[in-house]
Parts: sequence; structure tokens; C-alpha cells
Amino acid sequence: MSRSYLSNIKTKYIGRYIDYYSCIDSTNIQMKRVGKNMPEGYTIVAEKQENGKGRLGRVWQSQSCDSIYMSILLKPDIHIAQVPIITLLCGLSVCKTIERVTGEEFGIKWPNDIVHRNKKLAGILCEGCMTGDKPEFVVVGLGLNVNNRIFSDEISSKACSLYTIQGKDYDKKDIICDILSDFEQYYEMFKKNAYSFLDEYKEKCVTLGREVSFQKNSLSLSGVAYDINCNGDLLVKTDGGNVTVSSGEVAVQGIY
Ligand code: BTN
Repeated sequence: MSRSYLSNIKTKYIGRYIDYYSCIDSTNIQMKRVGKNMPEGYTIVAEKQENGKGRLGRVWQSQSCDSIYMSILLKPDIHIAQVPIITLLCGLSVCKTIERVTGEEFGIKWPNDIVHRNKKLAGILCEGCMTGDKPEFVVVGLGLNVNNRIFSDEISSKACSLYTIQGKDYDKKDIICDILSDFEQYYEMFKKNAYSFLDEYKEKCVTLGREVSFQKNSLSLSGVAYDINCNGDLLVKTDGGNVTVSSGEVAVQGIY
């Protein structure tokens, strides 16, 4: 473990206190172990993960040192119902950083996959550690493919990296600094007005206006996603009426 990972960090508190691991089980799991006693903004970065976690209980492949694996600790004074909104906030913030750094356009597949031409560049796993109706803390875990040339057979048709998009390598530390700095700005905005970023999010959300299919109450449903409400839920127009989708997998036609 090293505590002097980023020398160029210019934030006030996000990523100011940072631990770097060459290998760890999962940066999210580690954050949940120590988060209670760490300050807001504390960040963990790992070169590799042995037990990387994806959304919906999936595995996040984390053997490659070419990707970024990191978790940020937040201690927001919010109701637990607002935690999903933080998830969207992170997706938007990372999307904006990557667009500025690369000059390319990216989209967000609801709730927070960063996509480029129907392939996934990054995923975010937000986990709240709850006490009563407020989160004691929230862990924002980000996996971002940076210099990856190849992917395993399982994901090669649906994953991309900055390298596969642009044919050049990036310094992961520079990208992490930019992500932390942009995220601090979005998070400060969120603290003043939790919903002010939603319109900007909707502009980037490639799920809106598309045919989607999903599971609700053990039923397989489909329809057109038409909006996102202030809880971060996806609103879908189906033949049987409008449905609110709050979690679970939503398959968007044409995107992996
Ligand atoms: C997804 O399923 O799209 C979310 C993937 C999140 C992966 C990141 S990698 C860093 C952090 N640690 C984990 O174990 N998962 C998240």
C-alpha cells in the first residue's frame, strides 16, 4: 500500500487522502471495511483486483493493469432514497471527464454505464452502508478501461477502452486526477441542489427514447424509455401503461 500515489491532485477533499494497492480483493470491499473511520473523499486505487464486483452481483474482470479500479468514499447528509441519484451523478461526471480528455462523444446507458458506439467503456457500482434512513457512507466504485488492447472472449464484443477508441495510451494517474476533480465539482453542485444535474444527465443518456426490455415483479416487460424521475428511476411506456424501473437489468436495443 502506498499513500503518495497522486502528486498532481488539485481537489479540496475528493481524493486528497488516497491509498494505492498493487493488488486487492476489491476497492469497494476494502472501502466498506474502513469507510466508517475515514474522511469524506478518501479514495482507494488498485492496479488489479482479485474479486472485482460489478452491478447485480456480477464479476468485474480486474486482472488487467491497463484499467482503472477505484473507489471514492462519500458521507452525504441525504435520505437513503437519494442514493441512486448519486449513482447517476457519478456516471455523468465520469462521462464528462472522458469526453474532455479524449475529445470523443460518449453516452450513458442508464443508470451509469459509460458507452461509446454501443460498447461499454466504464461501469460504476455505488453501494450505500445504511443506518436507519440515512446512509452512514456511500462507496462509489469505478472501473474504467484505459490502455487495454484486448479483452477476454466473454466481453470482447461489448467492451472498449480509450486505447481501442483512439489508438493511443493514456497516463492513468492523469485520468484519475481529472475524474476526481470533476467529480468534486459535480458533488458540490449536488450538495447545493440534488437535482440540478438531471437535465444534463438526460442529454447524455442513450437509453431515453429507445426500446428497452426489463423484469418487473417476475414479469418480462418491454416498452420505450421516456424519462428519468428525481429518484433516478427510469420511466418506461409499455402497452400496459407507464412503468417505473428502479433497479435490475434493463436491456437497451442495439447496445450490448
Ligand atoms: C458495473 O457492473 O458496471 C459496475 C462495475 C464497477 C467496477 C468497479 S472496479 C472498482 C470498484 N471495485 C469493485 O469491486 N467494483 C468497482
